[in-house]
Amino acid sequence: MEFFDTLYRRKTVRNYTGEAVIDVQLAKILKAAQASPIGLKRYDTLHMTVIRNKAFLDKWEQKVYAETGRMPFYGAPTLILISSVLNDAPYDNVNYSNAAIMAQNMALAACEMGLGACHIWGAVRTLNKSPELLAELKIPEGMTPVCSVIVGMTDETYEERDVPDRITTVYFD
Ligand SMILES: Cc1cc2nc3c(=O)[nH]c(=O)nc-3n(C[C@H](O)[C@H](O)[C@H](O)COP(=O)(O)O)c2cc1C
Repeated sequence: MEFFDTLYRRKTVRNYTGEAVIDVQLAKILKAAQASPIGLKRYDTLHMTVIRNKAFLDKWEQKVYAETGRMPFYGAPTLILISSVLNDAPYDNVNYSNAAIMAQNMALAACEMGLGACHIWGAVRTLNKSPELLAELKIPEGMTPVCSVIVGMTDETYEERDVPDRITTVYFD
């Protein structure tokens, strides 16, 4: 897809076949994160965990279900978790934003290849309250998971979408 075509066709996908993402595609998705702009080039404040362990995703999903009554991963086979450094004044907003930008770069890369993607923020809150799950992931010392994106094969297609102006915007000239 052309860049603007990808941008405007992109949508959140909450429906996955469960098939594994092939390595070449996963590598491109991860490379998209590596291509992200990162505030002050502080690459060492960020960490990615590529989770393909179904037993782990199921365990995590059940915890979210117990809390919210919702299954958050929609059958996706791969979740990329991004951890960052929190309570790092004056960079707090930068550290969160870096992670979000990486997630969106990955979501766009997945869309470009016809894969589904969905930002998963809610389930990360549950993860952060589950020391036993966190321990399994071995997140580097001083880092905290802040967001994630699921990717996977989907039967959904990316159709042309209407993108209305729905976020208030003012010009201050
Ligand atoms: C920061 C952020 C967090 C989100 N968290 C979740 C989530 O936890 N679960 C989910 O299903 N969708 C999540 N989404 C997807 C939004 O619900 C979705 O982007 C919104 O409904 C607009 O739909 P669209 O992406 O198809 O344009 C998140 C999106 C963003 C940007």
